[in-house]
Amino acid sequence: MSAPLQAIRGMNDLLPQEAAIWRSFSARVEAWLERWGYRYMRMPLVEQTALFRRAIGEATDIVEKEMYSWRDELNGEDLTLRPEGTASCVRAAIEHSLLHDGPKRLWYGGAMYRHERPQKGRYREFFQYGAEALGYPGPDVDAELIVMCVRLWRELGLEDVRLELSTIGSPEERARYRADLVKHLEANVERLDADAKRRLHSNPLRVLDSKNPMVREVVAAAPELASYLGAQSRAHFDGLKELLAVAGIEYAINPRLVRGLDYYNLTVFEFVSERLGAQGTICGGGRYDGLFAQLGGKPAPAVGFALGCERVVALLREAGRVPAVPAPDAYLVHQGEGTLVSAFVLADALRTAGFAVIQHAGGGSFKSQMKKADASGAALALILGEDELRAGEVAVKPLRDARSQFRVARAALAEQLGALLKG
Ligand code: HAM
Repeated sequence: MSAPLQAIRGMNDLLPQEAAIWRSFSARVEAWLERWGYRYMRMPLVEQTALFRRAIGEATDIVEKEMYSWRDELNGEDLTLRPEGTASCVRAAIEHSLLHDGPKRLWYGGAMYRHERPQKGRYREFFQYGAEALGYPGPDVDAELIVMCVRLWRELGLEDVRLELSTIGSPEERARYRADLVKHLEANVERLDADAKRRLHSNPLRVLDSKNPMVREVVAAAPELASYLGAQSRAHFDGLKELLAVAGIEYAINPRLVRGLDYYNLTVFEFVSERLGAQGTICGGGRYDGLFAQLGGKPAPAVGFALGCERVVALLREAGRVPAVPAPDAYLVHQGEGTLVSAFVLADALRTAGFAVIQHAGGGSFKSQMKKADASGAALALILGEDELRAGEVAVKPLRDARSQFRVARAALAEQLGALLKG
């Protein structure tokens, strides 16, 4: 016999016992997105590789080493499994002229793929919910998105989620800053590690979030982007901070906040929890006013975020916020000559009437069927034996309260079941 195959490393099965928490989480997040005025859209999992190279940036970790890319020989196209959703969302907005009648608030959710080293909270297939406000110059919408997230954490009962906020100015301001940063890093090159040296010229801003203590010392003495900001960038940031203050939102300004994607300008932010270990960032986002033009569209300002579902679900679990597993209304037990067909018809009629009914399958003694009924979590066991069959009835045994078993006419059950369930 050949060895059983296993799932790809870093890609997880969602087992039924885990599904309840995910589904309740998804339902709440989706309702919250809609409540804040964001509308659902879906983009394909696969896009042209060029989309992500152009949007995320050639010198980012994602594009350099984390994309699942291949050449589709049949069409001669270079394709990639999406590592994030913003690029696709903007591509779709341009392709379908979504902004022709004004700005749009959109949301999406689904699997993303990054070939990272798997560890707790970091996977190769992971799920995100993303919200993108397209066509709004802000900073009111920047504030809206941030406040929206803070309200979600509270609604979900998550504590100790901290907001880190920064502004990275305009591309011109950043270019001037970058030149001075490179000078500073070059002057201290002997204290940089191999990673920082490699990034020094390709993506020097990423040196700012190095974890190496020696590199951090060099970074601590580096010039700060804040002092390179012009009046417009500062006004945008002040406008955002004012609205956050009005909403009572606490945050820490982190001048070294570096997002892993190159499309950002002005506002950037992350929500971080200390309870998750190294992979504590549960949500990240910012403004990307240049992306529409970069992808060949008419220029349009935009801002958004994405939250990492695995990490938020891990926090929910840690906080004990696990919903009850949904149980059926009734479990239908049947035994004896001719009962299977009647049970089949009865279960069908009850489900059509809107009840959640499991019909026992796979045979077994009456006792073992009743055990399964109990284990299913159903409120009622419905019992169809030869006696009940002959009498045109069904026996009803309440499984979760002290009521004793009684009989009901089979033809009347669909009408009466609602009342019987209420007890
Ligand atoms: P990101 O920071 O790359 O941003 O990802 C957003 C969130 O996805 C992270 O904060 C994290 O919770 C989760 N995440 C990222 N990588 C992994 C992984 N390998 N395993 C598990 N979770 C992960 C974006 O993707 C941007 N598109 C966000 C955005 C939307 N910016 C503007 N609009």
